[in-house]
Amino acid sequence: MTSLAKGDFETFRRKVDDLVNSHEVVTGNPYTAWFEKGDLTVDDVRRFAVQFSVFSNQFLIAQLKKMINSETLESMRESKEILANEIGVMFRNNTAQPSQRELSDEEKDRLGDPDLVGTEGSVEGGTFHFRAGHFEWLLNFGKPLGLAFSDMGKRRHGWPSTLHFCDELERLYGEGQGLVSVAASYAVENWAAAGFWKQLIAGLSVFKKQQCPGLPLAFFTWHDRIEDNHAAHTLDELREAYERTDFDQATFLNAADEMLDGVKAFWWGLDEERLDRHKAA
Ligand SMILES: [Fe+2]
Repeated sequence: MTSLAKGDFETFRRKVDDLVNSHEVVTGNPYTAWFEKGDLTVDDVRRFAVQFSVFSNQFLIAQLKKMINSETLESMRESKEILANEIGVMFRNNTAQPSQRELSDEEKDRLGDPDLVGTEGSVEGGTFHFRAGHFEWLLNFGKPLGLAFSDMGKRRHGWPSTLHFCDELERLYGEGQGLVSVAASYAVENWAAAGFWKQLIAGLSVFKKQQCPGLPLAFFTWHDRIEDNHAAHTLDELREAYERTDFDQATFLNAADEMLDGVKAFWWGLDEERLDRHKAA
């Protein structure tokens, strides 16, 4: 692989951002464009919830691999922040952070409310709550759709396109040298900050109003709020990676592109399935 000349950081950053922002998964995701309109059946939302739960749960493996392969203590901690928060450690400067006393069941249930769970701060000194685990929020989302714990999150529930995405996440995030995993994570977080959560929330809000009033959208609204925070973390990592002596632009850009192709497989898989199903109906 030919190495591109090392220019200044801002030029490189623009190059990476252009790559992310011009990728088809950002510019023309047919599934989220359709979903956004909210013309959804219960079956559409149920299938979406299951595939999303597989990706969301399997993402923990990718993030763990990224963490244990970190090149510096700082980047290990950055990865640990995301992983610990994902499984239920709340950020410390959250004003609604409960004290050490034993909480009532009602209080514990409210931990899944995104208005009460902060998106800023550190897991350092934060408290762990089962109900603050993001997967539990997704379980709550699945419940009014008729989905039980045994219906969500496992590889056996994933379609080949979803599993391809999970495998690409695991492969690229787990890459030992660190540079590839930084690129993959930068691509994922910046794709995520580019607006797909808002499209999902728009569609789900219509669906909720018209067909499923009890549907909690906490998982989606919370993630939409945190993405800018995550993208800022990966920018720190990008800068750090850029300073490394083994830094190679071509390797970085290639890994970011491969990761986005993995993301694309997930959404295009959902789109093909819904088109086939609606055609057959
Ligand atoms: Fe999450």
